[in-house]
Amino acid sequence: MHMTRTVSSDAITRAYLDSLLVEMRHIDAVRPDTSMTVYGRTFSTPVATAALSHLNGHYPDGMAQMALGAHQAGALVFSGMGANEELTGMTATGASVIKIIKPYADRQSIRNRIRHAEDAGALAVGIDIDHAFNRQHGYDVIEGMSMYPMSSTEIAELVRFTSLPFVIKGVLSRQDARKCLDAGVQGMVVSHHNGRLDCAVPPLMILPEIVEETQGKVPLFVDCSLQTGLDVFKALALGATACSVGRPLMARLKEKGAQGVREGIEDITRDLAYTMAMTCTPDLAHIDRSIVREGRF
Ligand SMILES: Cc1cc2nc3c(=O)[nH]c(=O)nc-3n(C[C@H](O)[C@H](O)[C@H](O)COP(=O)(O)O)c2cc1C
Repeated sequence: MHMTRTVSSDAITRAYLDSLLVEMRHIDAVRPDTSMTVYGRTFSTPVATAALSHLNGHYPDGMAQMALGAHQAGALVFSGMGANEELTGMTATGASVIKIIKPYADRQSIRNRIRHAEDAGALAVGIDIDHAFNRQHGYDVIEGMSMYPMSSTEIAELVRFTSLPFVIKGVLSRQDARKCLDAGVQGMVVSHHNGRLDCAVPPLMILPEIVEETQGKVPLFVDCSLQTGLDVFKALALGATACSVGRPLMARLKEKGAQGVREGIEDITRDLAYTMAMTCTPDLAHIDRSIVREGRF
């Protein structure tokens, strides 16, 4: 029996984003600098692509086109699951890519993919820990491969296994943030993975707690329903280092390939710059929590 879903996590996340209000600060304002540095590399924008997959079905060579468009916009790229050749095609564009690997039950396969990401010149590597289970009381199976939950010990082993920064995607609780830190993880993506659980807490609602728990020790990436520069601004104000945008950039990719992705990121970044200008924030470091209020209406 399929249970009737309640309001989807996407809708809740969108409503929460829209409930956050922004102060205006004009005196001493300047044209802002949107650049962002992470893992020793500087990008023109904190807007990254989300860890997407299967894009080759939407546009010829879609994975590489996504990376190329982002690279042209000076943006960081996340990659989701996919063949090794897809990742090689992405890094060959010159893009800085963070490769997110599925929590395959075949743990050797995870290790092989990590080694491949290192050889392909990825900037960082990680796992989306929120994709172990299906809704039928079993482990999810993707493209014939079974998933399995990651333990703290295994995460710590993978951190030691690779020379790259190791990132966990799908952190949506203070508990997991603490376990990641204890395991030596060097970055987290605060995300519910477009609603893997209904009524999941919106990433921006839990972000301040994760910021408190992690104390600036690792970069915090955020995704889910971020569409505009204003959305990104709110995430940065609440403590994100950078933000990923998935489906809106996919739509741009389908329309125009790399050029569409580039234009999409540039549009969002321009909107972010406008919001920064209107809030007297000269650069990302000055976007602080006091600018954003929770509206109740
Ligand atoms: C077509 C598609 C494929 C995705 N593939 C992956 C994946 O392989 N690995 C992963 O961690 N997340 C994957 N995601 C989830 C995204 O990284 C992201 O968490 C989610 O889409 C929320 O961002 P958005 O609201 O901006 O789309 C995928 C999402 C979409 C729409």
